[in-house]
Amino acid sequence: MSAKNTFHIGVFDSGLGGLSVLNALQSRRLKVKYTYYADSLHAPYGSLDTETLLNYSERIVSFLLSQGAQLIVVACNTITTELIGQLRQRFDVPFVGIEPPVKPAAESTVNGRIGVLATERTLKSAGYRSTCQKYASEVMLIERAGIGLVEAIEQLSWTSDVLRERISFFVDDFKSYDIDTLVLGCTHYTLVAPLFSELLGQEVKVLSASDAVARRVEQLTLNAYNADPELRLYTSGSSEHLAKLARQMSFKQLRSVTHLVL
Ligand code: DGL
Repeated sequence: MSAKNTFHIGVFDSGLGGLSVLNALQSRRLKVKYTYYADSLHAPYGSLDTETLLNYSERIVSFLLSQGAQLIVVACNTITTELIGQLRQRFDVPFVGIEPPVKPAAESTVNGRIGVLATERTLKSAGYRSTCQKYASEVMLIERAGIGLVEAIEQLSWTSDVLRERISFFVDDFKSYDIDTLVLGCTHYTLVAPLFSELLGQEVKVLSASDAVARRVEQLTLNAYNADPELRLYTSGSSEHLAKLARQMSFKQLRSVTHLVL
């Protein structure tokens, strides 16, 4: 009889942003293995050309598969909205991606004014544009590119005044449009969702898609063999910084944090 292996999920992002998705996954308490790769050295992905972006993504997926991943979570809106189709063609493994949750926002808005904060690339992508056309043609979308925010969240303390000020800049703009819902369309922004909520006030709903991604992953792993959960983190940036954040976010079953440039 062959020994069964615990189901293994590979998760990746241009950097730390995907930790917000990992957090949502871990809160489901699935007994699976996670390997997370943060490509912080190359963040933000928004500044790369499509060929380079595809090249980095392919290298990371190959690495995750070499570690035994059986399902890949693309914890990056920019890659999902632009490249997930090509990744699906290239690799014979199931992919779950993340996209700005425009549909639930359009369904739940009361005043029909929705702010969307995402990377410039995501806002321009065919994937995002077609979602808006399909589900948000009846509402007003106030779309803004969070220029500089990915870098700030990678480099600054999430409780620093400098970061707060940068986020206030976007929040003030959205407030002037009287939005009742804000869509966080980048996983980095979700890491500081409480700051957005605090600055916007409780009458504005802040939405991110991390929980929806985690729910989808849970559905896909229901019939898998789940026994010995563990988490391994890899980064092309600082492993000390990532280890500190992992402690701060109370990630469970953390076995290692490794610096690795692919
Ligand atoms: N976390 C990525 C996203 O969700 C950021 C992309 C980037 O590095 O530009 O879009």
